[in-house]
Amino acid sequence: MAELSLQEARQRVEELRREIRKHNYYYYVLDSPIISDAEYDALMRELQELEARFPELYDPTSPTQQVGAPPQEEFRPVRHTLPMLSLANAFNEEEVREFDRRVKRLLDGGPVEYIVEPKYDGLAVELIYEDGVFTVGATRGDGEVGEDVTLNLKTIKSIPLVLREPEGRPLPKRLAVRGEVYMDIADFKRLNEERLAQGEPPFANPRNAAAGSLRQLDSRITARRPLKIFFYDVGQCEGIEFQTQEELLKTLPEFGLRVNPLFRKCGTIEEAIAFHHELEREREALPYESDGVVIKVDRFELRRRLGEIARAPRWAVAYKFSPRQATTRIKEIILQVGRTGAITPVALLEPVELAGATISRATLHNQEEIAAKDIRIGDLVLVERAGDVIPEVVKAIPEARTGEEREFVMPEHCPVCGSRLVRPEDEVLYRCPNISCPARIKESIRHFASKGALDIEGLGDKLVNQLVEKGLVREVADIFHLKREELVALERMGEKSAANLLEAIERSKQVPLSRFIYALGIRHVGERLAELLARHYATIEELMEATEEELQAVPEVGPEVARSISQFFSTEKNREAIKRLLEAGVRPIPERVEIEEARPLPLAGKRFVFTGALRAFTREEAEELVRRLGGEASSSVSRKTDYVVVGEAPGSKLAKAQELGVKVLSEEEFK
Ligand code: IVH
Repeated sequence: MAELSLQEARQRVEELRREIRKHNYYYYVLDSPIISDAEYDALMRELQELEARFPELYDPTSPTQQVGAPPQEEFRPVRHTLPMLSLANAFNEEEVREFDRRVKRLLDGGPVEYIVEPKYDGLAVELIYEDGVFTVGATRGDGEVGEDVTLNLKTIKSIPLVLREPEGRPLPKRLAVRGEVYMDIADFKRLNEERLAQGEPPFANPRNAAAGSLRQLDSRITARRPLKIFFYDVGQCEGIEFQTQEELLKTLPEFGLRVNPLFRKCGTIEEAIAFHHELEREREALPYESDGVVIKVDRFELRRRLGEIARAPRWAVAYKFSPRQATTRIKEIILQVGRTGAITPVALLEPVELAGATISRATLHNQEEIAAKDIRIGDLVLVERAGDVIPEVVKAIPEARTGEEREFVMPEHCPVCGSRLVRPEDEVLYRCPNISCPARIKESIRHFASKGALDIEGLGDKLVNQLVEKGLVREVADIFHLKREELVALERMGEKSAANLLEAIERSKQVPLSRFIYALGIRHVGERLAELLARHYATIEELMEATEEELQAVPEVGPEVARSISQFFSTEKNREAIKRLLEAGVRPIPERVEIEEARPLPLAGKRFVFTGALRAFTREEAEELVRRLGGEASSSVSRKTDYVVVGEAPGSKLAKAQELGVKVLSEEEFK
């Protein structure tokens, strides 16, 4: 670094702090970063270095200060500006309508609008900003007095140390802002894995993990925990006033305070109920845990008139999602055959209400699990349903046994085609080895037509059964050759539904590449991976030709997945099936181009291969650099390679490059 005068350093430090705060705002509040992580890290590093060289530039609100401070003896008590209340609960629609009627009665009729937000499962906190600077933050405690966790809150990256100044609006003298500190489910799982690896006890759930992390006397520990915050309320403020919750939720982000955009304004209580159901259905897709919604009267003036009772406001209610667990009895255990031939034991249950649906089957995964959990036919069991996921039997309740229960014995033959089941050595699953087993064909067609795949409306389970049983469809491509006369001859199929189905089949031919890849049903390739592959490969043909090594350059593709993909495409039967689909007129639409246009990176689309030892980087670093700049790094040279970078003592790849006429770069040129 060049020698800087104090004056120059001050200027640069201020510039860097401004710049980093701006990027924090884009990243945490708008959730759309405008620079790469590497560029952000570089700015941060430069600031840290300058601050270390010029201690006189210390500023407690600098973005570098979010790393934690030496441990405290205890948490100081803090009195909240206004009490932090709790919420009354509602468990069904009727209780919510009752809440609405009471609100309207107390307000003597008149229209009431509501804001409905997810209810977060974390810890409520209040933060005070004075003249835009974060001064004190506390937990909810008993609602009147909480614990001073300022130092810990300062380490949370989505909490700004200074407020952003919105255009044309002065910073308030005092802003007491409230929200929920929480941990994303994925971060929670990762944290627990780390803890287990280090011999520490795992946290029971994301809420406990968030609470345990925030209530650390050593804030340097908090700094390493992936905590986040959503703001949703204010306490006593000076120099700012909100008329409605909607205004509050729209204004806080302008100050750099992170608000969840997932809220809805509802003109009637029925709309609020509908939003609850909508979120309940999508619950599993949320990155954080939510156990319901909070329905709040929008207007603050009305809230003041409604007041509170028993430490809970009369203007809000927590409408809980239905529980995801229930107990019921196993009537029988049967076998289900999947599209890969995998055999899954399924429990037939006495029907039970669970998370908004009646459940009569639940998966038992495999026969080892049944044995390990000692689950028997006739047992009373705990079943769990997580969103769209298939319900599963969590455990048996042996205390309720009568002695009439029977142990499950794994059958030796496929229940559908009678083939002898096989169990590959390294697997827990039994498989039906018969590729023409009708159960397997049905399942692969169902998968192909399902929502995340070609999404062929009207091609449901019953119809698939008929089509396969009548021999009209033997493999997926046959769908595209179905004729009107064949369809109308089927049970429960009129002219109209036949025409609709044919139209839906026709429409499905134009399919985004990612969904086409997913539809193929390659082992280990779910919707997300299919998307990553479609970002990487412009066409299905390109993907089909990719080697295992090349596949591993795709984000999230490890050796096992790469092998599975490559095996799938090298199987003649699969290549043939794809060929037939394309011949039938299926046109996977490339997706890669759009992505590249959205964020042009300097090396986008360029493929690099390294050979020999580099001086300035390890091989891994150089490859990582290429990927960060949008390029691809692979380990073998082909005609598709753009550059081969040659270090010391290059291997045969150099010769290969010269043979194919691929451009060769020295390390200096690469840099
Ligand atoms: S508003 C009293 N909004 O629920 C109303 N609270 O049971 C002020 N909570 O302590 C709170 N998500 O920890 C509000 N979107 C949300 C919430 C929420 C979770 C928690 C909060 C509060 C508790 C009350």
